[in-house]
Amino acid sequence: MHIINARLRGKTGLYRVACSGARITEVAPQAEAQTASAGVLDAAGNLLIPPLVEPHIHLDAVATAGQPEWNKSGTLFEGIERWGQRKATITHEDTKQRAHAGIRMLAEHGIQHVRTHVDVTDPTLGALKALLEVREEARALIDLQIVAFPQEGIESYPAGRELMVRALDMGADVVGGIPHFENTREQGVSSLHFLMDLAEQRGLLVDVHCDETDDPHSRFLEVLAEQARVRGMGSRVTASHTTAMGSYDNAYCSKLFRLLKAAGLNFVSCPTESIHLQGRFDSFPKRRGVTRVGELDRAGLNVCFGQDSLQDPWYPLGNGNILRILDAGLHICHMMGYDDLRRCLDLVTEHSARTLNLGEGYGIAVGRPANLVLLEAPDDYEAVRRQAKALLSIRHGEVIMRREPQRVSLVHNSRQ
Ligand code: FE2
Repeated sequence: MHIINARLRGKTGLYRVACSGARITEVAPQAEAQTASAGVLDAAGNLLIPPLVEPHIHLDAVATAGQPEWNKSGTLFEGIERWGQRKATITHEDTKQRAHAGIRMLAEHGIQHVRTHVDVTDPTLGALKALLEVREEARALIDLQIVAFPQEGIESYPAGRELMVRALDMGADVVGGIPHFENTREQGVSSLHFLMDLAEQRGLLVDVHCDETDDPHSRFLEVLAEQARVRGMGSRVTASHTTAMGSYDNAYCSKLFRLLKAAGLNFVSCPTESIHLQGRFDSFPKRRGVTRVGELDRAGLNVCFGQDSLQDPWYPLGNGNILRILDAGLHICHMMGYDDLRRCLDLVTEHSARTLNLGEGYGIAVGRPANLVLLEAPDDYEAVRRQAKALLSIRHGEVIMRREPQRVSLVHNSRQ
C-alpha cells in the first residue's frame, strides 16, 4: 500500500507513506504534489495520523440508556439506579452484542486502540466473560485492553478482593479500583495497596477511577501516586477522572504536583461525562467538575481525553467520535490558546497511546504497525475547528473504514 500527498503532524510539506504487509516501510517527503496512479491512495493534502485512541470507556454498559427507564435527572445517582434496573436483565449475548455495537461506533471514527473498564463486582463475572470473548472477536477492528473494574468497591463489596484476583486469572489486562467509593478512607487506602500489589506481582498495568467526585477532601490520588513512585511503576499507572482536583485549593495542589511529577503517572479526563455528572451539589457558582487538564499538561504530565460512555444511564449521548470529546474538552478545560490548539490531537493520539503503554506498537515510523488514519483536515487546528472526521482507517496495512468527504454547495451567493 502506498499513500501519497499526505500531511504529517508537526512537519511541513507533503509525504509519501508506504506499507508492506502489516508494517510501515517508508515515510518520505515529496518535493511536490503527485498524481495518484492505480492502487495508490491519494491523501489530497489531508492529515495522516496514527489511529485515534479511546483510553476510557465502559463497553459493558453501552446502549442501555432508556432501558427500561431514562435517567431524567441526569445525575450520577439516578444513573446507578437505572443501571441497577437494566443489570437485572443482562445476558451474555446482550452484553456481547452491545459491546460490539460500541466497537463499531469507535472504529467508524478511526479508533483502533481501546481500553474498556468492565464491572467485576458480580459473583458470576458475567460481563468480563462476555468482554474476553469480544476482545478476540474484535481484533480485525481494534486492540482491546480490559480493566478489571470494581464498580462497587474492592473492600466494600462482598468478596471484592477475591473477585479482582479471579478477574485477573481469567485474563483481564489491567488492574482497576475505585477508592473514593469505598466505605471509609482507610478502605480506600487499603484497596490501593491491594491493587498495586496485584499489579506489581503480575506485571500488569493499573487504571484507577480516582477521586471522581467534587469532594475536595477526596485525596486518593496522592496515595496512588506515592505507590506508583516508590514501586517505580509510574508510566504503567493511570489515574482516571481525578475530578476532585478541580475542587482542591491551590496550596494543596502545589504540593500534590511535586509528587505527581516524581511519580510520572498518566491521567485520563472524560470532560463531557464529568461536566454532565459533576457540579450537581452546587447551585451557583457551579463548579465544572473536571480535573486540571491544562495544568497537568503544562507540568509535563501525560494527560489524555476519553469518552467514558456511549448512551448509558450516566450519559445519554455519544457516538464513538473522540474528536467531539476533544472539541468539548478544549472548551471546558480552558485550552483554546493557539499553542494548545495547534497540538491538540496529542490529547487523543500520542498521549493516550502512552497511557495504554503502546510503545513502538504505535506511531508513523518505519518498522511500526501499518495502522493509520486520514483526517479531513490539513492540521490539528483545522481538524478541531472544522470538526473533521476520519476519512480512512488503515489497520495491518488494509483499509477497514472509508468515509466519503463532506461536500456542501450553497445555492446562492451572499452578494446576490
Ligand atoms: Fe469511567
